Amino acid sequence: MAGGTTLVGVLPVALLASGSGSNVQVLLDAMAADPGFGAKPVAVISDRPDAYALERARAAGVQTHVIDYGGFPNRAAFTVAVCDVAESVGAEALVLAGFMRILGPDAVRRFPNRIINIHPALLPSFRGAHAVEDALAAGVRVTGVTVHFVDELVDHGPIIAQEAVVVEEDDDAASLHARLQEVEHRLFPEVLKAFALGRLTLEGNRVRWT
Ligand code: GRF
Repeated sequence: MAGGTTLVGVLPVALLASGSGSNVQVLLDAMAADPGFGAKPVAVISDRPDAYALERARAAGVQTHVIDYGGFPNRAAFTVAVCDVAESVGAEALVLAGFMRILGPDAVRRFPNRIINIHPALLPSFRGAHAVEDALAAGVRVTGVTVHFVDELVDHGPIIAQEAVVVEEDDDAASLHARLQEVEHRLFPEVLKAFALGRLTLEGNRVRWT
């Protein structure tokens, strides 16, 4: 894990998602298929009751929790609720797999270097919820996928892995996002497994793979 400590046993993780959950699916599949993965899903948490990610979790026999953002007075209270649920199911790390809510600083304090996010751009470029559209609008010829530890800022924190994707002449947001997701689905399980097996060490802002 980050920070140089060695994890012992199987790491219980909560997966957080707001949408389709294709990344949730590949992570659930990878953890189920590989006895040496080093992590197990203890819950899928969503801010949206209609998130298809929840169906995927149920189909995999993983418990689900819906935490409705509108039910809380502010982000801080929502963050406390998410962290409380995650802790109550025994999660020791949070995996943000298309979770479209920003968690407040309390989450980073409670899960320091134990929150991992995937973002469909090469950070620090194109932070935010419209990364694919923003990359197209900027006219970049190369974009990509980033997996990173979460710090107090949005789409920010030590970068664990990145992979470039070329923007084609006729790309629109849907076609580009589809190719980005192919990369996501390969990269995310690799990163989570490395994290779970204690192969990621944080040195300042740099993540070393060992
Ligand atoms: C992914 O592209 C991820 O990078 C972004 O949200 C999307 C979620 O897709 N943060 P899915 O729900 O996993 O299919």
